[in-house]
Amino acid sequence: MNGQTEGQAQRVGVYVAWPYANGPLHVGHIGGSLLPPDIFARYHRLRGNDVLMVSGSDTHGTPIAVRAEDEGIEPQDVVRTWHESFLQTFDALGIGFDLFTHTDTANHHHVAQDLFTLLRERGYLVVRSEPQLYSPSQGRYLPDRFVEGTCPHCDYGAARGDQCDNCGRLLNAKDLIEPRAKGGDGEVLEQVEREHFFLDLPAFAEQLEPWLSAREGWRAAVQNSSLGLIKEGLEPRAITRDMAWGIPVPVEGWEDKVLYVWFEAVMGYLSATKELATLRGEPDRWRDWWYEPADGYYFMGKDNTIFHSILWPAILMGAAGFGGGEDHDEDVPNLPADVVANEYVNFEGGSMSTSRNIGVWLPDYLERYDPDPLRYFLTINAPETRDVDFSWSDFVRANNNELLATWGNLCNRVLKLTASSCDGRVPEPGALGPEDEAVLASTRAAFDAVGERIESRRFKLGLAEAMAVAHEVNRYLNDQAPWKQIKDDPVRGRTTLYVALRAIDDLKIILAPFLPHISQIVHEQLGHEGSLFGTTSIETVADERGEHRVLRYEHAGAVGRWAPGSLAGGQLLGEPEAIVRKLDEAAVLERELGDVPSESESST
Ligand code: MF3
Ligand code: ZN
Repeated sequence: MNGQTEGQAQRVGVYVAWPYANGPLHVGHIGGSLLPPDIFARYHRLRGNDVLMVSGSDTHGTPIAVRAEDEGIEPQDVVRTWHESFLQTFDALGIGFDLFTHTDTANHHHVAQDLFTLLRERGYLVVRSEPQLYSPSQGRYLPDRFVEGTCPHCDYGAARGDQCDNCGRLLNAKDLIEPRAKGGDGEVLEQVEREHFFLDLPAFAEQLEPWLSAREGWRAAVQNSSLGLIKEGLEPRAITRDMAWGIPVPVEGWEDKVLYVWFEAVMGYLSATKELATLRGEPDRWRDWWYEPADGYYFMGKDNTIFHSILWPAILMGAAGFGGGEDHDEDVPNLPADVVANEYVNFEGGSMSTSRNIGVWLPDYLERYDPDPLRYFLTINAPETRDVDFSWSDFVRANNNELLATWGNLCNRVLKLTASSCDGRVPEPGALGPEDEAVLASTRAAFDAVGERIESRRFKLGLAEAMAVAHEVNRYLNDQAPWKQIKDDPVRGRTTLYVALRAIDDLKIILAPFLPHISQIVHEQLGHEGSLFGTTSIETVADERGEHRVLRYEHAGAVGRWAPGSLAGGQLLGEPEAIVRKLDEAAVLERELGDVPSESESST
């Protein structure tokens, strides 16, 4: 993406890990995997690039089944509730998916079953018999997260049956040391031989290794850990399960098994592209994103890395030519341009826990606070290279002492003074002096500097640079003191206000990928028309499996451009009002942590 040629639109695929629809989204989901891609997508839209940002709810697998059992309801009901909650959260927080769908659609079932069949025909799927864990008391097999135990590789005691969260390795439930049923009473599980389809991952090692080694600009942790796993030796991975909930295995005699959730969920990037193309009435255009030149950036939490750096690329390699038409008979569909994996967001010094009700859930947050302060906090503290902590007192401080003090007050001071001293219009400036030119040069330069950071997926640094420029504009304002100038030397005063308004007009764009709601308000207060971005809406879509709900971003009508603005003297300003609300720390702590022991309240 670096060094984009002026005026030439690029296709930027923004692929976001599909959250399990088994509970409300918390700040970890947002900071780790959902917000960074939105910043990236908004930036590229402002650049005039052709953006495709897709994802959906992951509706299958043991995480959904476990939740349904805990609540004594059907998996479909779990999915319906939380998928709808996700749509509302994204709409309110401004996560602008071109399409957010889910994996229990007819389209996704078809894509997954077709890819399965193709990989099988090409000899990449082999049937093997392996012992599976069976619970006599429950009368069923227990794959993946139905089981917990000790990791055979790193000795981590709370490894799950599909993956170790400590060392990141893929596991098989039966290989855990002392496997036990999740939430069970210590019952001894039996091992029973069962046939399953295995994906021949070793067959792709020879292609994966050089491809991964040649990637540039990836975070070192992602590239090194993926290469490390290949060097250790990949093993065939079972991609079917003895479970009732999931996508049926499309093979006669296999009706009692389903596809492994990760095997089909990663295919969602492709199926969602197809669904969107069809919704747009151009069903063949999905190929633009998978066979024509297009960069695909994948965003996720670190525990998802291997599925995107190894499993999904292997599937794409195996599926070469899939549906691509004559021109692409043998082409491997576009492989990831980057796998952007983040570390975790913790809460008040510990881990978040849905079961113990420890954390910040987005539906609650959005009822009480504005969306952009959270976007600010989770970006300026982005978990890009290490785990970070969300604490309410840090959040309040960031809101009051940074976002409000530096950006909110800058806008407010300048707009209010202009309103009262210049008839509410952008003043006509006198001749600009060197200090005026210097301020405008710094906002102008920030477009490239911040843009470069965003393009290279360093969002935290990008936002910090943008805020540093806002800081400079504040300093300029304090030095010039237009509230005095306007009385002593009105022309000079109007010139300062004009320059400050121009700088705010530029900063509004530079901050827009991070703070889209605030930027839109500033845009209107400056008297501009139209919306910087398009709009999201929630729709009901029907297919052979019934109706499902989706969120869609519609680009039409957006007026934002990643370039310095032109603010003309005389333009009528909008109504100046505060763009960032001051938060009362004591009240927030009382409300949010009122029933939590006091040590954790004082954690910073
Ligand atoms: N549902 C998984 C999780 O929440 C992520 C799936 S990403 C996909 O960890 F690519 F597989 F869809
Ligand atoms: Zn481990």
